[in-house]
Amino acid sequence: MAAHYQIVGSSSAAISASVESGIRSGGLAPGVTLPAVRALATELAVSPATVAKAYQELRQRGLVVTAGRHGTRVRPRPPVATRRAALMPAPLPGARNLSAGQPDSRLLPPLGPHLAALATELGPPSGYAVTAVLPELAAAARERLAADGVPAEEITVTGGALDGIERLLAAHLRPGDAVAVEDPGWANLLDLLAALGLRAIGVPVDDDGPTEPGVRAALTAGARALIVTSRAQNPTGAAVSADRAVALRTLLAGRADLLLIEDDHAAELARVPLHPLAGATPAWAFVRSVSKPYGPDLRLAVLAGDEATVARVAGRARVGAGWVSTVLQRLVLALWRDPGTADLVRRAGESYERRRDGLVDALAARGLVAHGRTGINVWVPVPDETVVVTALRDAGWSVAPGALNRIAAAPGVRITVSPLDAADLAPLADAVARAVRPVGPAPFTA
Ligand SMILES: Cc1ncc(COP(=O)(O)O)c(C=O)c1O
Repeated sequence: MAAHYQIVGSSSAAISASVESGIRSGGLAPGVTLPAVRALATELAVSPATVAKAYQELRQRGLVVTAGRHGTRVRPRPPVATRRAALMPAPLPGARNLSAGQPDSRLLPPLGPHLAALATELGPPSGYAVTAVLPELAAAARERLAADGVPAEEITVTGGALDGIERLLAAHLRPGDAVAVEDPGWANLLDLLAALGLRAIGVPVDDDGPTEPGVRAALTAGARALIVTSRAQNPTGAAVSADRAVALRTLLAGRADLLLIEDDHAAELARVPLHPLAGATPAWAFVRSVSKPYGPDLRLAVLAGDEATVARVAGRARVGAGWVSTVLQRLVLALWRDPGTADLVRRAGESYERRRDGLVDALAARGLVAHGRTGINVWVPVPDETVVVTALRDAGWSVAPGALNRIAAAPGVRITVSPLDAADLAPLADAVARAVRPVGPAPFTA
């Protein structure tokens, strides 16, 4: 898709400001291709170097991406507030939205009773002199992490997993540094790396996690950090297996030059055991979000790690945002302590599993291989994402194109099972099979 927005400016700063303004207004929608450097330079009567400098600045800030022969394009989610309409693909009335990657709101534990109980327990309002992490929350988090084999003497709290990851990367890396991430991987993480001016090195992932040769190659290519999703990898549903954990721990052992980050966002919702890498490297962090089991709006994650790494994150937060509200911390603690909530989370995990397995099996019965060992998504490798996404939209199902998740991985589509009921699985699998292998006109035979 090419841009129809008029870029203006006679200096590199003015040109990049004009592009940024186009992105904000929606005139330059995510994914559109910017004019080639020479063409824009001629149009604006400036030197190609001036345009190239503007594009470079936009690239460093993560607003655009340059991809070889595809030219320079606006990133799918550039880090400037955009009119929402510009980010949304045109919705088809009545289509079922399986593209959002959201947990099933029907299965999130209700917060009302816990908020009501908190209201009676809170006591006088807190001022600035609060402890960053509530000691009771830290103790409960330590116990839960230790039960999963994560050494959690040092712990802090962040505003969600991605906030923790951003703080870790900002504290350890500099713009231009390379970060190894799963490929396909979490689209928001790729956008964050771009916004921080970091380079993503893709590591192939199979059902058992990032592959050992892939991580080895990323290390050889100079990765300064490695981010591994423990379970419910987005988009493939992979979970680090016991064998893969041993192989990766051996490979990473003692690497003082690497920051190891584990993202356990599925947490209590994952129905497979955790095989942590925590502690394999001197600098490490293990981030566990409450978003998937208890609700994304809680905006809280616990972050364990080695002493220096946790101190950097907590210390930087102290001179910035300060801390995560103790009201939220108390709420999470109440959810963790409530046996009824634990039961709801367990049942939610079973429900996702039934729908994921049901969809993967229904696709297999139609000759299609799909992935989804854990989590809320199923990943279906397809020959052509655009063809499949469009055909499914026409059939009333909106799914996410894997292009948002991929660096060099093969194409696929991501289907979030949260909105699905058991009765949807067969018709959806039929629609996917038709979209992947459209029935064309019968071949001409003489
Ligand atoms: C891989 C991964 N990590 C983390 C999260 C959740 O992050 P947060 O705690 O910032 O809500 C998600 C949500 O989709 C995810 O897919």
